[in-house]
Amino acid sequence: MSNTHQALPKIFKDAKDFMPLNGTDYIELYVSNAKQAAYFYKAALGFQSYAYAGLETGLKEYESYVVSQGKIKLILTSPLKSNTVIGKHIDNHGDGVKVVALWVDNAVDAYNTAMEKGARSYMEPEIIKDNEGTIIRSGIHTYGETVHIFVERTDYTGHFLPGFIRWETPDFNPSSVGLKYIDHMVGNVKLGQMNKWVNFYEEVMGFTNILTFDDKDISTEYTALMSKVVSNGNGRIKFPINEPAEGRKRSQVDEYLDFYEGEGVQHLAVATDDIVTTVQQMRNRGVEFLTIPDSYYETVLDRVGKIDEDLKPLQDLGILIDRDEEGYLLQIFTKPIEPRPTLFFEIIQRKGAQSFGKGNFKALFEAIEREQSIRGTL
Ligand code: FE2
Repeated sequence: MSNTHQALPKIFKDAKDFMPLNGTDYIELYVSNAKQAAYFYKAALGFQSYAYAGLETGLKEYESYVVSQGKIKLILTSPLKSNTVIGKHIDNHGDGVKVVALWVDNAVDAYNTAMEKGARSYMEPEIIKDNEGTIIRSGIHTYGETVHIFVERTDYTGHFLPGFIRWETPDFNPSSVGLKYIDHMVGNVKLGQMNKWVNFYEEVMGFTNILTFDDKDISTEYTALMSKVVSNGNGRIKFPINEPAEGRKRSQVDEYLDFYEGEGVQHLAVATDDIVTTVQQMRNRGVEFLTIPDSYYETVLDRVGKIDEDLKPLQDLGILIDRDEEGYLLQIFTKPIEPRPTLFFEIIQRKGAQSFGKGNFKALFEAIEREQSIRGTL
């Protein structure tokens, strides 16, 4: 048993927090067809039309649709011509997450602090303006071709960002499925790179390593991986970072790295207050989830103890249950949402637990391995 479950309040109190981050501002995905992706995010995942930028707003090279649900804002961006940076990113990686934007009070200070601590610059601080005020943004690189953009909104009262107009679709507004906010966002990095990126988040961003899962914690008969979770001072931002470990077969992280052709974001975990209703609605709208064998539910309550929910609906939907010292959590993974087996979503409902348990890993990874086996990539 490794040293994994540490008490969060103490850890958060000890966090250096020299870079105050208020939370996730937006996530930008580079996708091959933003217009159709936006339809999927609305129809299947319950997002709402929110903002738009493209030819009609004066852009010549790319087009972006912004969708929102709860506090989550996703920008879906596609190029309008060949030989663009965005197009090359899509050619290399398929559809995937490019930007994880973080909301800060001072984007210049955040950038300067990061650069002093050794970050690689992606975007020097820039001011963007419209009639409703000023936004300051700056950016640094993280793993792979993924970047963090710091967004300062102190002097802005507009809808989203300068350059975007409201996107209104009076005739097509599927309801929300109850997704509230980004709970965590997981990165997959190459063998031997996990500690480098944990150090990056600790040293450059002032995060704290709150949890460690070694290859014995996260292994199945065939494959293994290692994971460390870093979190910022207020605990609102959690980034688990995975790397593959030696196993008899190729792990899900290896499969991701092969198909993404590099390091990148593996999954976005989004929170709901009612996971059974959320997952049922998503299934009704065509979202596919990993399935869990009935045997999991025969022993799960022995492991996690009493829960408020009836077990039957959880079992019917394949929702997993786990616990830490403070409570329990319910979670489920979708299948990948693009042709390559790369990015997927997790739906999570926290009932007291603030971190992660390790009891679900085996069940989740065996579920992924069944899919890998069908794909011929195990
Ligand atoms: Fe997760």
